[in-house]
Amino acid sequence: MSEQKLNGAISVQIPKTDFVPRKYEGPSTAEVVSLRRQYMNPGIFAYYKKPLMLVEGNGQYVYDEEGKQYLDTFAGIVTISVGHCHPKVVAAGQKQLETIMHTTTIYYNPEVALLAKELISKMPEGSGLNRVYFTNSGSEANDLAVLMSRMYTGAYDMISLRNGYHGMSEGMRGLTALKNWKFAVPQAFGVHHALNPNRYRGPFGYDDPDSAHKYANDVKDLIDHATPGKIACYIAECIQGVGGTVVLPDGYLKEVYKHVRDAGGLCIADEVQTGFGRTGTHYWGFEGHGVIPDIVVVAKGMGNGTPIAAVITREDVAMTMKTGLHFNTYGGNPVSCAIARAVLKIIDEENIQQNAYERGEQYMEGLLKLQKKYDFIGDVRGKGLMIGLEMVKDRVTKEPAVEETLQVMERCRDMGLLIGRGGLLGNVFRIKPPMCISEADVVFALDVMDRAFGEL
Ligand SMILES: Cc1ncc(COP(=O)(O)O)c(C=O)c1O
Repeated sequence: MSEQKLNGAISVQIPKTDFVPRKYEGPSTAEVVSLRRQYMNPGIFAYYKKPLMLVEGNGQYVYDEEGKQYLDTFAGIVTISVGHCHPKVVAAGQKQLETIMHTTTIYYNPEVALLAKELISKMPEGSGLNRVYFTNSGSEANDLAVLMSRMYTGAYDMISLRNGYHGMSEGMRGLTALKNWKFAVPQAFGVHHALNPNRYRGPFGYDDPDSAHKYANDVKDLIDHATPGKIACYIAECIQGVGGTVVLPDGYLKEVYKHVRDAGGLCIADEVQTGFGRTGTHYWGFEGHGVIPDIVVVAKGMGNGTPIAAVITREDVAMTMKTGLHFNTYGGNPVSCAIARAVLKIIDEENIQQNAYERGEQYMEGLLKLQKKYDFIGDVRGKGLMIGLEMVKDRVTKEPAVEETLQVMERCRDMGLLIGRGGLLGNVFRIKPPMCISEADVVFALDVMDRAFGEL
């Protein structure tokens, strides 16, 4: 472990590793920036004033073209679950690449069938969640989930949360409720956005013991006033990711699920970010709320960076989709499936969920100390390794400290720490590292953040 201490005066030093990055011989950062500007989608954005190009990864660390090591606490946007280039993941992918790369589900292949079985074995016992559909991305999987709910219920209306993010497909841009991810085109047919149960900024705060009930009542109110009283589904992330790590209050989902089911609807858990042990206490985010969804959507961490996603539902729901054929060219691709199988195994073998819990506790303790020290840290929240830190100019007015957030991010990068950013206005730090992060890494991250905050 490096010698630095939280708030200590010793120089900040990233934990040492035996890994030696290769000499990078590709185009320079400047050339890649120029290629991207000239040939790629002009709507994409990149972090940092001085462009950062990452050319290699190992465990929780990434390396730029000069071989500088960074601690990655954003994990490819909450995707690298068990570590960059985990040797067992690489070996599983390599073996499959050398065996057969693609078949589609019109032929039989063992990898996809075994992954389906192994994924279902991770669902809570007695949940009845026993059928899997494979897709390539979370957006596609969510699209399929809402289609299923409409087919199953014969209803059309759907409810999602303000500040929620569910993807960038045509359908998902409607359910998503953050202005940054919308275009001025017709969207969101049949979608109703319920109050965001944000106890830091919403009308019912942390100090309101009845907040879960009050936010849940808004869903009931929407059903009664904005729909025919029958709905197809309710979809929510258990902890909002892109929206800035907003944690749903305990008891909220239980009440909402009842209102939704009373209106004939299905409950969809978008576990794209919260799944695979990230919340620490449970394998799935919904388990922490004591509910069983009708449909679970998974992606990101499942493939540790490989494009793969899935919808898991009950047999009775799946059967309604049999009225039409279902096909997805790459959904169930053997290479992605072999990799996802390796990821599931590693999560168990290396106690990844337990590590997410312990490192999450360590992080929270350190961040709460920093909150006491710096007034512009308005809120610290999260579970396991899904943590948010909201920056404000003033704790009373809660005016978002956007510039300050950017400044801290830049300084952290200089010191070798990469952090994510989110929330409607971009004033929330998102800390969601590979779940193999070590105790020394967390000490380092906290120390770097302390110094960067201190410079504000
Ligand atoms: C909660 C959630 N759902 C769905 C998606 C969409 O996944 P994808 O980008 O793989 O389409 C995301 C992506 O960030 C997400 O965070």
